[in-house]
Amino acid sequence: MCGIVGYVGTDEAVPIMLDGLRKLEYRGYDSAGVAVCGGGGLTVAKAAGYVQALCDIVEDGRRLPGHVGIGHTRWATHGRPTDENAHPHISDGGKIAVVHNGIIENYAKLREYLVSKGFAFNSETDTEVAVNLIQHYYNKHGDAVRAVAQAARRMEGSYALGILCEDRPDVIIATRKESPLVLGFGDGCNHIASDVAALVTHTREVARLEDDEIAVVSAAGVTVYNCDLEEIVKTPEHVDWDVSAAEKGGYEHFMIKEILEQPDALRKTVSPRISGGRVTLGDADIPDEYVKNISKIYIVGCGTASYVGAAAKYNFEKYAKIPAETVMASEFRYSEPIIDGTTLVICISQSGETTDTIAAMREAHRLGARVLSIVNVVGSVLARESDWVLYTWAGPEICVASTKAYSTQLAVTYLLTLHFAQKRGAMSGAQCAEVVTELQRLPEKMQLVIDDKHAIQYLASIYFNNEDIFFIGRNIDYALSLEGSLKLKEISYIHSEAYAAGELKHGPLALVVDGTLVVAVATYEKLIDKTMSNASEAHSRGARILAVTTQSCAARVAEASENVITVPDTHDMLLPSLGVLPLQMFAYYVALLRGCPIDKPRNLAKAVTVE
Ligand code: M6R
Repeated sequence: MCGIVGYVGTDEAVPIMLDGLRKLEYRGYDSAGVAVCGGGGLTVAKAAGYVQALCDIVEDGRRLPGHVGIGHTRWATHGRPTDENAHPHISDGGKIAVVHNGIIENYAKLREYLVSKGFAFNSETDTEVAVNLIQHYYNKHGDAVRAVAQAARRMEGSYALGILCEDRPDVIIATRKESPLVLGFGDGCNHIASDVAALVTHTREVARLEDDEIAVVSAAGVTVYNCDLEEIVKTPEHVDWDVSAAEKGGYEHFMIKEILEQPDALRKTVSPRISGGRVTLGDADIPDEYVKNISKIYIVGCGTASYVGAAAKYNFEKYAKIPAETVMASEFRYSEPIIDGTTLVICISQSGETTDTIAAMREAHRLGARVLSIVNVVGSVLARESDWVLYTWAGPEICVASTKAYSTQLAVTYLLTLHFAQKRGAMSGAQCAEVVTELQRLPEKMQLVIDDKHAIQYLASIYFNNEDIFFIGRNIDYALSLEGSLKLKEISYIHSEAYAAGELKHGPLALVVDGTLVVAVATYEKLIDKTMSNASEAHSRGARILAVTTQSCAARVAEASENVITVPDTHDMLLPSLGVLPLQMFAYYVALLRGCPIDKPRNLAKAVTVE
């Protein structure tokens, strides 16, 4: 993961980079650092902890003057999050400084080689191998750009690198392979960054660096070369971004802001894709003939995105009558799935940058499947390499814990279910129209659940001291349980597991003791009684039961529960969109009461760009 920035121009570089690093903290927040290049050579400042710790050390930039610099916010892979392991790293020889996002897989071999050439190492990172390899080639011929190209040829794995060379104090050199890097074109200044989020307050003219390209960025311009150092033309594109959408806007945390944004986000996802009571997926022109012949759907993603898939699987099978299987991307890529040209692989990802999901997409392509991606970040790798992409249009999601991405991804899976069901004749026009009408009402109903947040806050105050919390449910409620449990453990650090309710008695029930909290997710009317019987079995062994159900079923679950949360009734297909809201809010308020750093949970990062 990690975020990198770089600035070259006439302004002070460090304050601009600190601003960019704050915007990229979602990519990792174990340590941060900057390096500037000036008359006195390379100067580095770095510190373990949030970007704020770095700001304090450099007094918001005042202690580190210079007009050319690179910066980094780290998610630790090789070596603990210490000052020593923080980036930038300086070469043995002192002429080169590097910030790196990614993993150099053959770093041990390269390190051995460099040690044999007399290089000394001061950190546990793979990045120090990159910086010394560049220095190694630079020592041979004194050409920094050529040295970067030669080093890149020897590095395996993924990297985006921002590089300073003491002897070229007026430029930043940048290159990448499989980790993102964006060039920002300013007026008398230019930038590099892992993501446009770090750039839009300075420039909206950007271009993505592609694999193996090398950019030489100066205040006067940007020159881009291919790996053979032949110059290539990069045309900037204009990004149209609402900057305020990436700001907290008075809320205590991004997470609660993003929870509250969900009704609106859903409207933006759904409205443009409904016309005359029917679903129209004009933005993903999937041929009807292909849809009719789909023999199997694999839904692939990681974490929350895979739990969207867990719910979608039931809907694809029940309504579109297409066999569907949800597989975690990290498992899919090595599972030798049985795939042919009639297999559709649906990749789900907020960032479109998740390494495992990208690898799963490539594996699916290699095996001959068509790939449709559900993605939030426009122009991300997943979006660009898929056969079809349906954007979620959720706006920036900053909190590491995913909420509005979940809701909008889910909404896209409803649209797809209906589209496939229509095209394959699995549902009648009237049946589809009924769901479409309910789908259009969904934002209002979501708002009703959100308006009741104080009730959830009160329940959180009852249960926040529990150290083990189980979520159980059947069918789509099981999918919801997976998401509810992930949300809770991720931000509150409470140990939590989700189980298919019927599985409880096959082992996990042994964990239930007096006072254990079991959240019974029971929104799917057909299976409510079954789930509540399983909840009662836990209750008989001392568990406290908190149920989540629909208004029309509240009375049925009340008897077996200590407390009941209700959501409005809706069509069965759409239930997860309402059921997830109290689970998200419960996790949020529990974490708040436990004093957790909600937007930046320990050990995690938003974009997981390592395997
Ligand atoms: O960007 P992606 O949607 O591919 O990310 C996938 C997961 O890393 C992500 O959903 C993660 O599980 C969240 N932290 C969950 O809240």
